[in-house]
Amino acid sequence: MDPRLSIIAHRLENIDRLIAVSGGKGGIGKSSVASALALCLSKKNYRVGLLDLDFYGPSCHLILGIKGVYPEEEKGIIPPEVNGIRFMSIVYYAEDNPLMARGIDISNSIIELLAITLWGELDFLVIDMPPGIGDTTLDVIRLLKRIEFLVVTTPSKLSLETVKKTLEMLKEAEVPILGVIENMKLNNSSRVRQEIEKFDVKYLGEIGFDRSFEEYLGNSEGLLTSSFANDINKLIQNLD
Ligand SMILES: Nc1ncnc2c1ncn2[C@@H]1O[C@H](COP(=O)(O)OP(=O)(O)OP(=O)(O)O)[C@@H](O)[C@H]1O
Ligand SMILES: [Mg+2]
Repeated sequence: MDPRLSIIAHRLENIDRLIAVSGGKGGIGKSSVASALALCLSKKNYRVGLLDLDFYGPSCHLILGIKGVYPEEEKGIIPPEVNGIRFMSIVYYAEDNPLMARGIDISNSIIELLAITLWGELDFLVIDMPPGIGDTTLDVIRLLKRIEFLVVTTPSKLSLETVKKTLEMLKEAEVPILGVIENMKLNNSSRVRQEIEKFDVKYLGEIGFDRSFEEYLGNSEGLLTSSFANDINKLIQNLD
């Protein structure tokens, strides 16, 4: 029995909801959704934490423009608070170097990160997941007993097919699925909605392709004015 596991349960006991933002493929907008969701929830006065668990490509700090702030040590690690979001990422420990780690090392780093971080009281902890349903997903399911999954897809059949596999896997593991978000939507086709509903999973809504999104990278205030954030705000009502 790893003593860190009971510490993790203790560390997370004052967090109301834990939401993992996941999906099948890479590059479909998981980090953008996780970062903007944390930002919009915080603007609605929720107490929010954001944990970037993408060890190979941490991005949330770039999307939200988080720099020059560091976790503080005090009987654990206190995440810095930026734009009302308590933020923790492997980036603080990898120092922007490309991370060369194998499955077991990543598992250990996740356990360590969860065991040392003092989140305090939160309404939401949003977790940005790496692409696919590999080891990190299995670790998160194993370590975070109250985790709910928010799954992102694009309108592409390629993305949707992998998302279906993710949904099957989550159902098999009996993990709660909050629903699916369709990102980068370019038209008003209802194909994805229909396919998702066939799985008996909630279609949470869509985020349009936002041509100005790239301009707002690293600028939280700007991001809040984007159509991307506007679409996220509409989805938040469906998170119950
Ligand atoms: N709705 C959107 N409109 C326009 N651009 C978008 C939208 N969503 C995401 N993007 C862009 O798509 C790219 C990929 O987004 P992001 O990094 O969030 O995806 P990801 O799924 O987290 O990728 P990875 O699998 O590598 O972690 C980024 O350049 C981002 O700015
Ligand atoms: Mg990402």
